[in-house]
Amino acid sequence: MVSSGFWVVFEGADGVGKTTQVELLAAHLRSSAGGAREVLTTREPGGTPLGVELRQAIMHGDHVAPRAEALLYAADRAHHIATKVRPALEAGTVVLQDRYLDSSVVYQGGARGLGDEVERISLWATEGMLPDLTVVLDMAPDPARMSRDLDRVERETIAKSEQMRQGFLARAALDPARYAVVDAARVVEAVHAAVVEAVTRAMGRPDALPLEPWGTP
Ligand code: TYD
Repeated sequence: MVSSGFWVVFEGADGVGKTTQVELLAAHLRSSAGGAREVLTTREPGGTPLGVELRQAIMHGDHVAPRAEALLYAADRAHHIATKVRPALEAGTVVLQDRYLDSSVVYQGGARGLGDEVERISLWATEGMLPDLTVVLDMAPDPARMSRDLDRVERETIAKSEQMRQGFLARAALDPARYAVVDAARVVEAVHAAVVEAVTRAMGRPDALPLEPWGTP
């Protein structure tokens, strides 16, 4: 099945500004300067009504077993792609999405130690759907925080966000043509300009339109 839409996913550690950049890019692409495109913004987990319920289950206060957590993210993803993202792409819409499969690979596969199977589960859940471009918003842990006297919990939080960061960078390095790593440690407008440049370049790629983002995984 051939789609005329274009699918951009934003990834990165918590707090790098993904939501802001999704909104700014959406406004740009909807404007005449950006091509007056039809744009859908969405996110995982929680991009559909069922997803909102699954998100609540995942964020559930008590401990959730790591494999249960991975499957809840995959269930959210399967439903989100089948009922919202794929139909929008088939209708020619540009889809801008906050988090996707790489978040599962980095958080559940890496941080929770579930390994490579997490990626296979996600690919099964989505019938192999992969975005046209993944923008990794990259930011080193805040130097201002690092220079202070840190307690153990703060040190662990910083170490964890650096681990996430390296996870996303490693994913990007595997497929440079389909990833753009953007330095997110700058003012919002500068990050937005770099995002627009990367997305415009990707949309102009000869293989971009029409595209076949899904195949046999
Ligand atoms: P959210 O409040 O959306 O955070 P953010 O604004 O940083 O995206 O919560 C999403 C959380 O879920 C975030 O900590 C990352 C995590 N997550 C996973 O662990 N695995 C996944 O597959 C996804 C999509 C998110």
